[in-house]
Amino acid sequence: MERKGKALTLSVFSRRKRDGRKLVVLTAYDLTSALIAAAGGVDAILVGDSVGMVVLGHENTLPVTVDDMVHHCQAVTRARPRVPVIADMPYGSFHVSVEKTVEHALRLIKVGGAHAVKVEGGRQREAVIKALVAAEIPVMGHLGLTPQSVNRLGGYKVQGREAAAAAELREEATLLTEWGCFALVLECVPSALATAVSQNIAIPTVGIGAGAGCDGQVLVFHDMLGLFTGLKPKFVKRYADLGEAARTAVAQYADEVRKGEFPGPEHQYDDKPSSRTDGSGTNVSGQSGYLGDLGDNDDSGKS
Ligand code: KIV
Repeated sequence: MERKGKALTLSVFSRRKRDGRKLVVLTAYDLTSALIAAAGGVDAILVGDSVGMVVLGHENTLPVTVDDMVHHCQAVTRARPRVPVIADMPYGSFHVSVEKTVEHALRLIKVGGAHAVKVEGGRQREAVIKALVAAEIPVMGHLGLTPQSVNRLGGYKVQGREAAAAAELREEATLLTEWGCFALVLECVPSALATAVSQNIAIPTVGIGAGAGCDGQVLVFHDMLGLFTGLKPKFVKRYADLGEAARTAVAQYADEVRKGEFPGPEHQYDDKPSSRTDGSGTNVSGQSGYLGDLGDNDDSGKS
């Protein structure tokens, strides 16, 4: 379901809300995951600070830095996914001053190549979100379970179950809309609340653990593919078990190397070029990039 035709821009968010078609968002953190997400036909890629847990090995997202985010945004945008790329603003990057917040967001856009940023939090983010919007930086909001607040919240818990908390979340969703956010992530909130919020605000909601009434869904790449098994929240659906497939493949590789079965003749080079066992004598990998040139080429430049 790779995208044909024109590249998508952030306008896909308002368009999907208007047309009543669900938005599909997936996280990605590097070239390979971005290429896979784009080939799978997502509407947008989120370079989430979940990178801290599923890629960098931190216990939570708090240690992730702006430099980390820039580094991973660059790897994603080098894939040219032809869909909007949204960069998470990591913990600490929008908590010190409005000026520093805008500086950090500008780095994610100018150096990282992202099209927008995501900021966790509600009422307390007024100055920050308004300043980002004024600086022409599109902002995605994030309410409900905001993982950067894990210490204050005392763990990862469903939010908005009590009437007062639900009312506050509804108000904050309205405020974020008024301050100019183009979309809103709702994480781990009761489905009825998320549905009510989605019906009540003009911008699209993108749910994760927030039920089917949201305007779209987002999942973490490593969770939905079974690559990260450290946590398995109820809201994650595993569409594949690539972790198990990868472990089996690595075990087979180790076994074959130890038995002398790999590399076989088809994986080795002879003295002369163009000796592919498929008989074509050409580089049939079909890849561009450095690996694509090592089919069995003659590096003299002659064909
Ligand atoms: O960091 C992340 O991946 C996120 C999504 C789960 C919404 O914030």
